Amino acid sequence: MQIASLLKQRLAAALAHLVDDPDEVAQMLRPTQDPRFGDYQANCAMPLKQRLNRPPREIAQQIVDHLQVADLCHEPEIAGPGFINLRLRDDWIGEAATALLDDSALGVEPPEQPRTLLIDFSSPNVAKPMHVGHIRSTVIGDALARCFRFLGHRVITDNHLGDWGTQFGMIIYGYKHFVDQAAFEAAPVAELVRLYRMVNSLIDYHSAVVALPEARTTAETLREEADQARQAAQDIEDKAERKRHKKQSDALSRRAAAAADKVVGLQHKVDAVEADDTLLAVAGQHTTIATDVLNETAKLHQGDPENRALWDRFLPHCQDEINRVYQRLDIHFDHTLGESFYHPMLPGVVQELKEAGLARDSEGAVCIFLPDFDAPMIIQKKDGAFLYGTTDLATLKYRNEHFAADEILYVVDSRQSDHFDKLFAVAPLIGLGHLRLRHVNFGTVLGEDGKPLKTRSGNNAGLEGLLDDAVAAAMDAVCDPDRTAKLDPPLSEAERQRIARVIGHGAIKYADLAHHRTSDYRFSLQKMVALEGNTVAYLQYAYARTQGILRAGQTSEDDVRKAEHPISVAADAERSLALALLRLPEALQQVADDYAPSALVDYLYETARKYMVFNDNCPVWKADDPAVQASRLALVVATSRVIRTGLGLLGIEVVERM
Ligand code: ARG
Repeated sequence: MQIASLLKQRLAAALAHLVDDPDEVAQMLRPTQDPRFGDYQANCAMPLKQRLNRPPREIAQQIVDHLQVADLCHEPEIAGPGFINLRLRDDWIGEAATALLDDSALGVEPPEQPRTLLIDFSSPNVAKPMHVGHIRSTVIGDALARCFRFLGHRVITDNHLGDWGTQFGMIIYGYKHFVDQAAFEAAPVAELVRLYRMVNSLIDYHSAVVALPEARTTAETLREEADQARQAAQDIEDKAERKRHKKQSDALSRRAAAAADKVVGLQHKVDAVEADDTLLAVAGQHTTIATDVLNETAKLHQGDPENRALWDRFLPHCQDEINRVYQRLDIHFDHTLGESFYHPMLPGVVQELKEAGLARDSEGAVCIFLPDFDAPMIIQKKDGAFLYGTTDLATLKYRNEHFAADEILYVVDSRQSDHFDKLFAVAPLIGLGHLRLRHVNFGTVLGEDGKPLKTRSGNNAGLEGLLDDAVAAAMDAVCDPDRTAKLDPPLSEAERQRIARVIGHGAIKYADLAHHRTSDYRFSLQKMVALEGNTVAYLQYAYARTQGILRAGQTSEDDVRKAEHPISVAADAERSLALALLRLPEALQQVADDYAPSALVDYLYETARKYMVFNDNCPVWKADDPAVQASRLALVVATSRVIRTGLGLLGIEVVERM
């Protein structure tokens, strides 16, 4: 049962006498920030002032007169300008918390209208190392899939692999010209990654050499303009005017700094090749590499047997590589239909769109012009090549035909929002207006320097190296021998390894999910694995305490459940913990409404904190009264179930001791 919706229903019934949209108005119910004002607060009386032309306190009184909540709340109180404060009754909280022990859904009720959601997530471009940006899609998408399933919806997960793009042209080109056969036989993916990087840096080198002179001039000009503007601003007498000029000169300085950054970036690309005589010589021999790579991609798409054979040879290795990451992170997909799967459908899609008059030729390319967009959606280039958007249109049609989804979530970087805006605008034009399409966008992972994080290169490149680092950091932070030796019995080496793994992998997921998906965040391994703060280690620690209490009493969750002792809340810490435990359904509703697992993280952290307060203030085995002991024990078990389930919904395992 969801407390907030229960109260909203009651509130709506009381509002029915006053307004004709009671359900809407009843949405203005919030948990209170300050426990002195009760547990929930209805804020609807104030906004109704105009509509009902009466003082809000009077309106509040009328609502309260009709409000039937005596079975779960104390007498409602009207406060301030017309807030209605509701305080749940302790006996009701105790009873509801007791019911959690026997409810595997932990209070979540089946939805009135189950939805079928298809979640397109992870979807990395294979053939280049999966990087930390893909973590966000993977981790957010997986958590959403788990949460929606738990809420009783049908979920289909699909990994839309980028297995057909330019990156294959790059490794095909690299393989044809630079492969080290022995290295490829020994470790194919490492060699492919090397080839990818080499081709990439050669392409970057040539374009940087061309772009540098102009970039330098731009940077210098902007720098001079910025300096002049700053000087000029200083000389202005009038304060307001000076401020205005200062603002302009600051803006110019920022642009100048960005232009200078760009020069540095380009110079970097040039240096990367020039620092290595062999590579520089290679660059001299492969001056047309950028177009040659595009040709290799085009040949692959046109069915050239040699390139196709190479693709067939490379792909399984690339898949093994990402599957290893998925396995470590316990990520599973119902389908993995990559871009290559849709390739044969693309000519038909373009044809159909043309016949329907939706797409037309424009300067040699085939485009869909959309009224609200500056640029059209290009679905076929002059040279006949299809684009990312063409594939997504084919994918959309296929999904509509084969999966009876009513909603599709695309868990993809915010930077692709223009692409999805266009795709979603085309959907209704091709008869897919019934699908609810959502770009579940997310921000960038930043390094400690505030710039987009680049995973280190080296043998264990990309994500796997990052996972190894996280496990090592967790080992240092939470498994240091001084601490673990004090546990009774001391942790075995195998246990320490497992804890480091669960916390290391969990930290990567947790830290990512803890930030609202639309914000950027700074990646800091040290903070992520710390025992203090909103971290997975803190939650694991709280969870391990619950298990420690059971161990100390030589009992188990099952035994406690079977004993059927009711929870009664007397102490503040008991009450606020029990109430927190009852709010999991509310938190999950928030996750679903906003497609943002951070609401669940916030909830779990709050709950764990309340548990730690309870842990410090409400001893279980030292309580004299056996009824108090049994009630607290039941509360511990309810907590452990909520934390374990909640972490499970984030895709994170738990540890029993730490
Ligand atoms: N492969 C793309 C990338 O890494 C993401 C694909 C997202 N899904 C989609 N249907 N477009 O940028």
